[in-house]
Amino acid sequence: MSDSIILGIESSCDDTSAAIIQGNKILSNIAANQEIHNEYGGVVPELASRAHQQNIIPVVQKSVSKANIQQKDISAIGFTRGPGLLGSLLVGTSFAKSLAMSLKVPLIEVNHLQAHILAHFIDDANPLPPKFPFLCLTVSGGHTMIVVVKDYFDMEIIGKTIDDAAGEAFDKIGKIFGLDYPAGPIIDRLAKLGNKDAFQFNKPRIENYNYSFSGIKTSVLYFIQKEVQKNPDFIAENLNDLCASVQKTLVEILMNKLEKAAKELNINEVAIAGGVSANSGLREAMQKNAEKLGWNIYIPKFEYTTDNAAMIAMVAKLKFDRGEFTDLSVSATSRYDIEESFKKEVVIKDK
Ligand code: KG4
Ligand code: ZN
Repeated sequence: MSDSIILGIESSCDDTSAAIIQGNKILSNIAANQEIHNEYGGVVPELASRAHQQNIIPVVQKSVSKANIQQKDISAIGFTRGPGLLGSLLVGTSFAKSLAMSLKVPLIEVNHLQAHILAHFIDDANPLPPKFPFLCLTVSGGHTMIVVVKDYFDMEIIGKTIDDAAGEAFDKIGKIFGLDYPAGPIIDRLAKLGNKDAFQFNKPRIENYNYSFSGIKTSVLYFIQKEVQKNPDFIAENLNDLCASVQKTLVEILMNKLEKAAKELNINEVAIAGGVSANSGLREAMQKNAEKLGWNIYIPKFEYTTDNAAMIAMVAKLKFDRGEFTDLSVSATSRYDIEESFKKEVVIKDK
C-alpha cells in the first residue's frame, strides 16, 4: 500500500500544520506559525486554539494544492491526538474527523512524541534511516526523554525530566535575559557570537537517565539578579556570552545522560528529535560523538525538528500499512505517553 496518499494534521501547540505523504515521501509540508504568542512570553492556550481554527482550512488546502493532488486522492487522514494543549488538539481532531467522514476515508490517530521520533523514517530526513534498536533523545518544549526505539511501535522510555523540559529551560532562561518567546532559537543564534566558557553554571546530579532543568534556571536567575544590582547593563553587555554559556551547559546536561545510556546499553545508533534537536550546539556535540565514540548519528532536517505535520503523516502511513485505524468516536487527550499509545485497542477496517 505504499502508493497511498495520506494527509497528516498537527495542531498540538502553536503551529497549525498539514502535510501529504505518499509512501515515505513528503509531497508537501505546510505550517502556519502563531506569532501572536511572542509578546506574551509563552503560548496562550485560548489564543492558540482560536488561531488553529482560523488557519486549519487554508493550511490543509495549501498542503493539497502544493502536493499537486486533489482531496479525492487522499486515502486516509492522520491527526495528532496528544499530548499537547487540549483546546489546540481539539481543533485538529474535530477537523480530521469531519474531513474523514466527508471524504469517506479512514481516520488514524497519532501520538505526537512517537511522531517526532519516527520523523527519522521520512525518506529525505536522513541519508539512511536509523537501525533498530536505536536511542532517541527526544527534546521539545514539553518533553525531554531518552527512548530506546526497538521498532516503529515498540519503544521504551528509559529516562525523562523530573521537572522542566529542555526547550522550556531555553525559553525560561531566555525570558530572564529579556528575549522573546520561543527563546531557544534566539539563544542558539546569539550563542554563536559568544564565549561559551565565560560563565559557569552548575549541572544537576540526578539518578539514572533522568534529567532536571529547574536548578539551572534558578541559578541563572539568581546570578543575573546579583549582577544586575551591580551593573544594570550587565545583560546587554554580556548577552552573547550568557547565551553561549547557558547553551553549552544545557547541551552538556543532555549529552552526559545520552552518552551514559549509549555506553551502558551498548547501542551506537543514536538519534535526536523534537524542537531542541534544531540546536546547533546539540548537533555539534552529536557530530563530535560520531567521531569520538563511533556513534552512527541521526539528526533530522530542520523542517522535521520543530512541530510539523510531515512527522504525523509518516506515523499515519506506518499505521495505515498495518491496517490500524481509529474510530470516529476518538477524543483528543492532553496527556498521552508513547507507551500508552501502543496499548490501545486497535480498530481494523478493510482498506
Ligand atoms: O517540538 P517543538 O516544536 O514543540 C513541542 O512539542 O514542544 O519544540 C519547541 C521547543 C521550544 O522550547 C523552542 O525554544 C525549542 O524547541 N527550540 C530550540 C531551537 N529551536 C527550537 N531550542 C534550542 N535551540 C534551537 N535552535
Ligand atoms: Zn513537538
